[in-house]
Amino acid sequence: MRTSLIFLITMSLINALTAQNSEKNEFISALMSEMTLDEKIGQMNQYTGFYDPTGPIPTDGDAKTKYDHIKKGMVGSVLNVRGTKDVRALQEIAVTQSRLGIPLIFGFDVIHGYKTIMPIPLAEAASWDLESIEMSARIAADEATASGLNWTFAPMMDVGRDPRWGRVMEGAGEDPYLGSLIAEARVRGFQGTDMSEENTMAACAKHFAAYGFAESGRDYNTTDIGLSTLHNIVLPPFKAAAEAGVATFMNSFNELNGIPATGDIFLQRSILKGKWNFQGFVVSDWGSIGEMIPHGFAEDGAQAAEIAVNAGSDMDMESHLYIHQLNKLVQSGTVDLSVIDEAVKRILGVKYDLGLFHDPYKYCNEEREAEVLNNTSSMAQSLDIARKSIVLLKNKNDILPLKKSGNHIAVIGALGNDKNSPLGSWRFGSVDNSAVSVVEGMSQYQYNNLSYEEGIALVNGETSFANELDINTSDRTGLKEAVELAGKADYVVMVLGEHGYQSGEGRSRTDIGLPGLQQELLEKVFEVNSNIILVLMNGRPLTLEWADQNIPAIVETWHLGSQSGTAIAEVLYGDYNPSGKLTMTFPRNVGQIPIYYNCKNTGRPGPQSQVFWSHYTDQTNDPLYVFGHGLSYTTFEYQNLNIEVDGNTVIAKVTVKNSGNRSGEEVIQLYIHDKVASVTRPIKELKGFSKVSFSQGETKVIEFVLSEKELGFYNNEGDYVVEPGAFELIVGEARKVN
Ligand code: NOJ
Repeated sequence: MRTSLIFLITMSLINALTAQNSEKNEFISALMSEMTLDEKIGQMNQYTGFYDPTGPIPTDGDAKTKYDHIKKGMVGSVLNVRGTKDVRALQEIAVTQSRLGIPLIFGFDVIHGYKTIMPIPLAEAASWDLESIEMSARIAADEATASGLNWTFAPMMDVGRDPRWGRVMEGAGEDPYLGSLIAEARVRGFQGTDMSEENTMAACAKHFAAYGFAESGRDYNTTDIGLSTLHNIVLPPFKAAAEAGVATFMNSFNELNGIPATGDIFLQRSILKGKWNFQGFVVSDWGSIGEMIPHGFAEDGAQAAEIAVNAGSDMDMESHLYIHQLNKLVQSGTVDLSVIDEAVKRILGVKYDLGLFHDPYKYCNEEREAEVLNNTSSMAQSLDIARKSIVLLKNKNDILPLKKSGNHIAVIGALGNDKNSPLGSWRFGSVDNSAVSVVEGMSQYQYNNLSYEEGIALVNGETSFANELDINTSDRTGLKEAVELAGKADYVVMVLGEHGYQSGEGRSRTDIGLPGLQQELLEKVFEVNSNIILVLMNGRPLTLEWADQNIPAIVETWHLGSQSGTAIAEVLYGDYNPSGKLTMTFPRNVGQIPIYYNCKNTGRPGPQSQVFWSHYTDQTNDPLYVFGHGLSYTTFEYQNLNIEVDGNTVIAKVTVKNSGNRSGEEVIQLYIHDKVASVTRPIKELKGFSKVSFSQGETKVIEFVLSEKELGFYNNEGDYVVEPGAFELIVGEARKVN
């Protein structure tokens, strides 16, 4: 009886979905039958609008021409226009003045919050808290849609193994398993269960593919990787996003093994739209269709457009090539009309799913905008995820947490008083200088005996962006005061690292130590007072060997967003017990890069007594801080790993005890090592984790279930295989002991 009821419900759901789909298909076919070729090509064209450009500023197409093109039905989407007033103004032109009135879709980089800024994505990943990560994207979507937007260019799911690459701040780190779960959570957060709701938006899986493997970490550089890395490391998060129903994909600037991703049939047609049956549309990255010319893959704009469209790039972001070339290419028979039709059908499909045909102004409700953007309740969520993203890297002799009274504390470092840097890169919807600074956060705890000196100032940067600063590299005038103050204090909280725009797109660095004169400042202060708590603000792993050897406490706070200073102060004074774990390895020096935990064993892992083994002669192989590392103010003991094998399922149980003197959360991590395989496997692969709260003294048994989904891998043909044989299971914590 019960089974048949479930069957009936399932059948009626399937029927409803099929009816919805056929309604959608009929609507789109009818609309497309009315469209001229130019109107179809128009849907495939995306222009940037009036706000901060997020790529090289285009030389043709000022606002006036763009309005005219919208009227003529030559534009399908606009990016970088936001706010209900401006969005409505453009939408009105499209809907009321173009022949067919097809609404525009409005895209924007909503990367880690919109007005309320959340921690940068790499920081959020360090929380290992999928619910909070989903919530963060949910709030971002709520605010962005209230501001007229319906499409975010997020999440970025490029696996990053090279901290020189500034865009690691936008991703989830180096692991494809965790990266896949985070990608799914973010897609769910942005899109919800129904994209046609007024507070959900289309997400975009980017950058397809292998952009994170730019040689030597230089942004936009060549990517050349093997098939095993492609299938096992790069593609899984994208596949997970596609399976989670992400509405759009963005291809990437880089070439992959000699083929620019924008023109890559294998990636876009065979894998994405073929094997994975992705039904949404693919947008190019900014100008990436035109960039196939300097790549040396296309002779001119016409050929670039031809290659891109045939390879499956459905929408042209800011190359202006589809709009200028596609009509001629179709007329001459170089591009088949069916290719255009397929792209347009996909684009209209996403607009339909967003409900734009039903109500093109649904994101333009000024009242909702005022209400949502002034609603401060999102700050509580920002604070919550900010706390969870902090990673305690070192805490010798339990110098932390600080006592709430009785000490004189000196805060030193320009970032300590900075209200802009904590907002990080990619936060155009926010208000400049709106973050809680560390000094502000700490003064909530300590009204007296808290002093501040910047030591090394922030100075104007060299870029064209007005709000970009650098850490001063030559002026030592503030050093003296800072050192004097440090000498008088009981403890020194040194807030050092990168300014908010020192990581992000186009911000690759060859030296990833503390920028400017900050290392010198740190060492000078250390000479007079060694009770230092180093609070790091940065968008990528840094090289910190000296600090690790000398400074008793190191707290990684990334760029934590609007509530940064409050979250940091809560951790420093012990109101929140840190629970974050690194999702990207910290190298000892740049020479070790790329360095990542899931590496291969090599044929010569030892013996270490001889010279002929895989090692450096001037540095150890191990990193400074490994993937998964992160301390707590309490301690956890792991016991009794018990493994049962039941057919193709493995059940692992481990007993974990909070053996310290306060409550806390632990991320229990499970890794496998497939010892022998037809394609060699990494020495360790994360295949499960659980973030669990423990009260003081509490013991819990944590269970993991591994099935074929976790135990297999992709062979070099891209097929998923599960091979019989011996596996090692490693459960516990990746923790560096002081
Ligand atoms: C270029 C970046 O690579 C991409 O991630 C971003 O979404 C676009 N610019 C639009 O701003």
